Amino acid sequence: MGVITCNEDLRKLAERRVPRMFYDYVDCGSWTETTYRENERQFGRWKFRQRVAVDIDRRSLRTRMIGQEVAMPVALAPTGLTGMQRADGEILAARAAARFGVPFTLSTMSICSIEDVAAATGAPFWFQLYVMRDRDFVERLIDRARAAGCSALMLTLDLQILGQRHKDLKNGLTAPPRPTLRNLVDLATKPRWCLGMLGTRRRTFGNIVGHARGVDSLDSLNAWTNEQFDPHLNWGDVEWIKRRWGGPLILKGIMDAEDARHAADTGADALVVSNHGGRQLDGAPASIEALPAIAAAVGSRIEVWMDGGIRSGQDVLRAIALGARGTLIGRAFLYGLGALGEAGVSRCLELIHRELDLSMAFCGRTEIGRVDRSVLLPNDT
Ligand code: GLV
Repeated sequence: MGVITCNEDLRKLAERRVPRMFYDYVDCGSWTETTYRENERQFGRWKFRQRVAVDIDRRSLRTRMIGQEVAMPVALAPTGLTGMQRADGEILAARAAARFGVPFTLSTMSICSIEDVAAATGAPFWFQLYVMRDRDFVERLIDRARAAGCSALMLTLDLQILGQRHKDLKNGLTAPPRPTLRNLVDLATKPRWCLGMLGTRRRTFGNIVGHARGVDSLDSLNAWTNEQFDPHLNWGDVEWIKRRWGGPLILKGIMDAEDARHAADTGADALVVSNHGGRQLDGAPASIEALPAIAAAVGSRIEVWMDGGIRSGQDVLRAIALGARGTLIGRAFLYGLGALGEAGVSRCLELIHRELDLSMAFCGRTEIGRVDRSVLLPNDT
């Protein structure tokens, strides 16, 4: 591939370089994938107001997310199995994010453990928590995140049960991959990936194996979720987790204004309008569709962020215009990682930064912190 000029270039390269089952794990949604596709498509409905003859010489994208200074209102979302896109993927992504000046969020279902990432990176990162039936294990995870210096906890509320993703089931997704003929044939065409994996000891779920009671080996995200994730999770548990953690708390997976009010009532610092990248409730609206009503309902009481479908700086600008104080990117950075490792994550961030900066300028604005609904035309569709 020649020069990388957009995130779609990174996606295409990742598709060539990452084993099929891990590429598919990222590039899929649940059931008909309608919500997954809509997340991207609905951004296109919002058109910018081009403005001219405004002095746009000095511009700034710097802002704050839960009080932390960020180079732009973008953080890396927690994503499962990131270390299967590329060996030691979580460490590579965390390093790229720290160098760029945006937060990195480590998933509970990561390959590199909390301790691995803390040891390998200088900057504090955020930790994303899933709640399991084994509450001792959950408490230990929270304590480990605190001990590792994590600067915020992101509690995911929309995945106590798993949406069905056809591709994962058909591919027999496991980490590491099982040595089936199909997998071996695929891996034979991915030498770069294989070489990386031979050079690391991190090939399964690092936060869980050896930490959760009775789990000496775990390869299937599907099986673990079905057995261990706690479907009882409710707002009372959120209070318990908040107390146990005692630091900045972000609640992820809110799609309804009524739930947003509950989230604000907990005293959490931020909520993320998210349908889990279209991987859970297929048929839910796109996140960008759900954002305005939620921002209107609670935006003065809690920071409202969003994720789902962001592939460009233009998308970030639309999200900010519609009331988000911050955004998360998942697939965009994973494609960069799968394509080019740490350099690919950096490239993704540079691309989004530049697109955001120039688009803001074309709209006649110079400070991201002052962007509001007026950069967009009315949307009557
Ligand atoms: C887990 O977080 C997933 O969406 O696969």
